[in-house]
Amino acid sequence: MKTKPDVSEMTEAQASAELEQIAQAMAAADIAYHQNDAPEISDAKYDALKQRNAALETAFPDLVRDDSPSKKIGAAVRSGFGKIKHIVPMLSLGNAFSDADVIEFDKRIRKFLSISDDQPLAYTAEPKIDGLSLALRYENGVLVSAATRGDGETGEEVSQNAKTIADIPHKISGAPDIFEVRGEVYMSHKDFEALNAAQSAKGDKEFANPRNAAAGSLRQLDSSITAKRPLAFFAYAWGDISEPLANTQMGSIKRLGKLGFSINPLTKLCQSPDEIIEHYKNIEVQRATLGYDIDGVVYKVNDLALQARLGFRSNTPRWAIAHKFPAETATTIVEAIEIQVGRTGALSPVAHLAPVTVGGVVVARATLHNEDYIKGVDSNGQPIRKGGDIRVGDLVEIYRAGDVIPKIREVIKRGDGPVFQFPEKCPICGSDAIREEGEAVARCSGGFSCAAQRIEKLKHFVSRNAFDIDGLGAKQVEVFTQDGWISEPADIFTLQERFGSGVQQLRNREGWGDKSAQKLFDAINERRNIPLNRLLFGLGIRHVGESSAMTLARFYGDWPGFETAMMAAQNHKGEAWETLNSIDGIGTVMAAALVDFFHEPRAKAIVDRLVTHLEIEPVAVPKTNGSPVAGKTVVFTGTLELVSRAEAKATAESLGAKVSGSVSAKTDILVAGAKAGSKLKKAQSLGVKTLTEQEWLDLIAGSSDS
Ligand code: IVH
Repeated sequence: MKTKPDVSEMTEAQASAELEQIAQAMAAADIAYHQNDAPEISDAKYDALKQRNAALETAFPDLVRDDSPSKKIGAAVRSGFGKIKHIVPMLSLGNAFSDADVIEFDKRIRKFLSISDDQPLAYTAEPKIDGLSLALRYENGVLVSAATRGDGETGEEVSQNAKTIADIPHKISGAPDIFEVRGEVYMSHKDFEALNAAQSAKGDKEFANPRNAAAGSLRQLDSSITAKRPLAFFAYAWGDISEPLANTQMGSIKRLGKLGFSINPLTKLCQSPDEIIEHYKNIEVQRATLGYDIDGVVYKVNDLALQARLGFRSNTPRWAIAHKFPAETATTIVEAIEIQVGRTGALSPVAHLAPVTVGGVVVARATLHNEDYIKGVDSNGQPIRKGGDIRVGDLVEIYRAGDVIPKIREVIKRGDGPVFQFPEKCPICGSDAIREEGEAVARCSGGFSCAAQRIEKLKHFVSRNAFDIDGLGAKQVEVFTQDGWISEPADIFTLQERFGSGVQQLRNREGWGDKSAQKLFDAINERRNIPLNRLLFGLGIRHVGESSAMTLARFYGDWPGFETAMMAAQNHKGEAWETLNSIDGIGTVMAAALVDFFHEPRAKAIVDRLVTHLEIEPVAVPKTNGSPVAGKTVVFTGTLELVSRAEAKATAESLGAKVSGSVSAKTDILVAGAKAGSKLKKAQSLGVKTLTEQEWLDLIAGSSDS
């Protein structure tokens, strides 16, 4: 392709001619792609044209054409549901449900940062908008793309739709060159009611709540539909950005306002937990009259340098929390009690309720936790609900907070059902249900021979934070297992070959067409490459959650290393066993669950069959900037005085070090704080390099991200 002249060297006449040419070329490409389903130019070429158009428009703002591709809305959507990888992941927030949780949040942060109670620590407090989050990318002041959150790593491209929202500027000035603003798309109560009235007049489906209406409107393949829906947008955060907006959260929000974004007027800078709680109460009082839905208040550490030090847990920032409004309640009747069997065999009782609306959502089930909970006893043997049990036929008060599964608060009126008898056998496979000493939960002893456990393990395997296969969710797993198409993870990866093209079989099923079947196979094929941590989490081993899976993946580096170690740790003895137990964050119970899993022949065979279909990627090593501690095993001991233990660990890990809790010949560095004792002695006797806390900080200085 001929290289185009640099825009800075062009005359207005040249630019104008080229803008016209691009507008025509892109319009033709849109028609070929959308209306004729016959693309004439490649996606890369199309994107290059779009970028060139944006560059020309930035340099010659007066020449922006009415029919410019940057302005285009309407049916000519290029990529309604293309994918966009978030350069900075879009995370969720941890929750606080009480004032005590908020005070605990402040304490945790102070501890992590080693800030004493008498030192000031400011937070912003702002409403948590009940909508859906959206990331808007501006390059040189021009909106180039918009993406939904998706799974947090990859979202859906909804650029054309986002451009129809009045609160979203197409162009801004004075922003960093690369500037990704994030916020919430929502619909006001008034607009929601008008939309539903119009839907019902047309005989179309009404939306359950403003959030669903906003989501349904933004995720339209045809942006002319989105354009007719009254969506709004509040900006409250940023992602990829070439320079910071300010030094503080509050400063950044104000800057977003100056750049032309709507920012929430109830955002307030607070100096203490007491002040944030006061502001929470203030917002709660106004909740009913705001005119849009909010479901809590979000608190964020104001100082961005402190935010950077605090960093993230696997999915949530340490520096922010959502303080949710209290649960909503309703009364209803318990119609049945069903026992479900989970992926680790746990028998979980669930109450089937006469359907009732709680906070805008129809609820027909509530969790009953376990046998004792039904009886009216908590995990310490103390009475709950004044010791009253729950029976079929009871009139109960239920409550739900946010996305949490509804629970029963109390029995309001006793029905005429008998006392519930908790089963002694698995209701699915008939194996004994065993409740071990000191455990609240009874478990089916059937393992992989229990159909319920197998299905639940498969559902976990395909879930969002594990393999996350588009088009293969819990429902499809149920259907596919019932039809005998899959019974273990490896089967997913042979689906297509077992069916030849596969499409024919799938299309005979309700809801599947050629396109969706092909999409499913594509999604499956995409996951043949899987990061080690996702695989470890996806196996569904008891006690191994997402963050432990990440710890293990970081520690062992790759699959062969991990698998060899698990096999070598047989009988919970020997060096491999000791090493596993020494990993900071892996306790004996989890270590035992891991080793036992890999020594259970059926489980091992299932894993062996699965991995033949996979390319397992070692965990992406964090940006270590040539850190001298990358790959080293480090132990912290004694009292650290300059940074907290948690921060020392998080920083070391972010530089690629493995943090271990005990000293062995494999330890590379021991960092000894004040009053270090036996670990220091052991390190000295083994000849392990020991550093003071200051020496450690000097060693890593200059290699951290900030
Ligand atoms: S901050 C890294 N601020 O809540 C944290 N989120 O539960 C970035 N949300 O996915 C999020 N209002 O969709 C933030 N004022 C607010 C918010 C807010 C609503 C949503 C957002 C996020 C979810 C997390």
